[in-house]
Amino acid sequence: MVLPDGYSDVPAGKLAAVVTCLEMAHPAPARPEPSTIAWTLQRVAHPTLVAYRTLFAHVGSEWLWSSRLAMPDQRLQAILDDPQVWIYTLSINGHEEGLLELDFREAGECELAFFGLSPVARDCGAGRWLMNRALEFAWQQPIRRLWVHTCTLDHPKALAFYLRSGFVAYERRVEVFDDPRVLGHVSRSAVPEVPLITPTP
Ligand SMILES: CC(C)(COP(=O)(O)OP(=O)(O)OC[C@H]1O[C@@H](n2cnc3c(N)ncnc32)[C@H](O)[C@@H]1OP(=O)(O)O)[C@@H](O)C(=O)NCCC(=O)NCCS
Repeated sequence: MVLPDGYSDVPAGKLAAVVTCLEMAHPAPARPEPSTIAWTLQRVAHPTLVAYRTLFAHVGSEWLWSSRLAMPDQRLQAILDDPQVWIYTLSINGHEEGLLELDFREAGECELAFFGLSPVARDCGAGRWLMNRALEFAWQQPIRRLWVHTCTLDHPKALAFYLRSGFVAYERRVEVFDDPRVLGHVSRSAVPEVPLITPTP
């Protein structure tokens, strides 16, 4: 459905975000990264629901990420156990501060499904270093396309970061979804700059 020009009502209890769809058809060259690093990266096969959701919330609640918090356990565990879903954790001083998830379940493609750092890991070159690893890991596989979505609720620097990384925007969409703070997946006090508008009972 194409949105009409002008305002469209978003029901109380829902959020709306503008999503930019980006893709890359050839490996982009790595950008300069720090020569000494204060973090480690580990691929985690079969993470537990608790461990995965703890890190997902740690890096994502600030941006109202909730898809994996709301997903039924069995469905999420099947994704986490899928050998074509590669999950990496970035740790600093023994604490998990970053999540990278590459999804190869669609033949010939890779989705950069989740890419996020906690405040501790941001603005220090770890984002660029992690993107360089993500591009290496993805393009070492026989794919024709790497894609990612980012939305206006994500970090304000995320879209420009992806464009600098070599992704090209090809589509813009509006996503309307339940406010995870209303559903209880994210704290009601999170992201006060996006004020909660609750449905009247
Ligand atoms: C989007 C995100 C990954 C960007 O990370 P970041 O911390 O800003 O990234 P960095 O500090 O590594 O990189 C920013 C730039 O500064 C440079 N930089 C910053 N500190 C540096 C340092 N100490 N040494 C060398 N370079 C440094 C990087 O090389 C990079 O340059 P480039 O982009 O021109 O190549 C991060 O903001 C984030 O995780 N946000 C929250 C989650 C999110 O919104 N994710 C996207 C959703 S789809």
